[in-house]
Amino acid sequence: MDRPMRIALLGGGQLGRMFIENALRYGVQVNVLDPDPQCPCAHLATRFEAGRFNERDTVIQFASDADVVGIEIEHVSTEALEQLEKQGKTVIPAAAVLRTIQDKGLQKQFYRSHGIPSAPFALVENASSIQKHAELLPAFLKTCTGGYDGKGVMPVDAATTVVPEEFKGPYILEKRVAIAKELAVIAVRGADGTSSAYEPVEMVFDPALNLVDTLLAPARCDASIAEKAKNLAVRVAEAFGAPGIYAVEMFLTPEGELLVNETAPRAHNSGHHTIEACASSQYDQLLRAYMGWPAGDVRMHGKAAMVNLVGEGGTGTPHLAGAKEILRQSGTFIHLYGKQETRTGRKMGHVTVLAPTTAEVDRAVSAVKDHAKVVPASNPKTQSTQ
Ligand SMILES: Nc1ncnc2c1ncn2[C@@H]1O[C@H](COP(=O)(O)OP(=O)(O)O)[C@@H](O)[C@H]1O
Ligand SMILES: [Mg+2]
Repeated sequence: MDRPMRIALLGGGQLGRMFIENALRYGVQVNVLDPDPQCPCAHLATRFEAGRFNERDTVIQFASDADVVGIEIEHVSTEALEQLEKQGKTVIPAAAVLRTIQDKGLQKQFYRSHGIPSAPFALVENASSIQKHAELLPAFLKTCTGGYDGKGVMPVDAATTVVPEEFKGPYILEKRVAIAKELAVIAVRGADGTSSAYEPVEMVFDPALNLVDTLLAPARCDASIAEKAKNLAVRVAEAFGAPGIYAVEMFLTPEGELLVNETAPRAHNSGHHTIEACASSQYDQLLRAYMGWPAGDVRMHGKAAMVNLVGEGGTGTPHLAGAKEILRQSGTFIHLYGKQETRTGRKMGHVTVLAPTTAEVDRAVSAVKDHAKVVPASNPKTQSTQ
């Protein structure tokens, strides 16, 4: 080809931004479609277009000059992806994979039909049908489409639990399982059909925000569980059977059983540490899959943790307090996503720490949590640590 490869990326958030950071090394072009002209990718893309990635015609038109089509968010038009596949473009994830994953009901049925262990569930059209599945209670009611970061999930303790009007079905009703740890494994499926998996990571959630607060890599579990988790993630990638990366969220039960919760067929929050901690990052793997190149090496150097930086103290221009304090520690890497405005609870960045031992990782995590804060720049009180 007499011009650089062109990748059309649907979504312009932080995952896209970290993808572009790596892709620039290879001299490929990355065009981005996102409705927000100030999104994290807007000023990094080769060509940025403001538009909706869930509109069929907008996506088809946007990707018309691209060789490869990728996503960094799941809520995109799968009809457009199908059309672009028909035109002979490389589409990762494949439209059929994304169709299954976009709907939690289809996704759970997919695990069931492929013999992949997952919590028992039933499909329910409306809240009044919950009582027909009393054996699943206590449970979680999850909207089949549109949920993220816990927004489409509500606990249901009894058949009489009131489901708010705005929490719209259809749903899955999923038995609440006992969880010892929440793990995630990113499986990589290459263009040649071979698969591999990163070390499992352990996700520690902020219960108020429903966001991953800290991520420990590798997960602190028995080697046999880690091996089982990697095999399970590879099975999920093989069941989907198409190139790309698959972030498989799992529950480890107190009995040592692993259940697949859900899969994201894209770069994922649980893989941010791979930028510094692994030979080839999740973003590099994705690029290799897009280009049809061999998959990269998933091995880790030492131990790592990732702390999400979530906005605190209200709305305003983002300011990172505590950078000086945390950067004194070697093996500390700051990532700010370039969002124009910080808001309480908004994901603004993350810090990855690398160290040879878990004890040193834990000390570094405490230091990051004590000092690093994204706050509005206009608030002089919160800036006093800089
Ligand atoms: N069946 C379940 N049993 C126990 N906890 C669950 C179950 N399903 C979900 N959860 C909890 O709710 C969180 C969010 O659920 P999830 O389906 O992953 O939603 P989202 O798409 O918003 O990430 C999970 O990370 C887990 O902590
Ligand atoms: Mg989840």
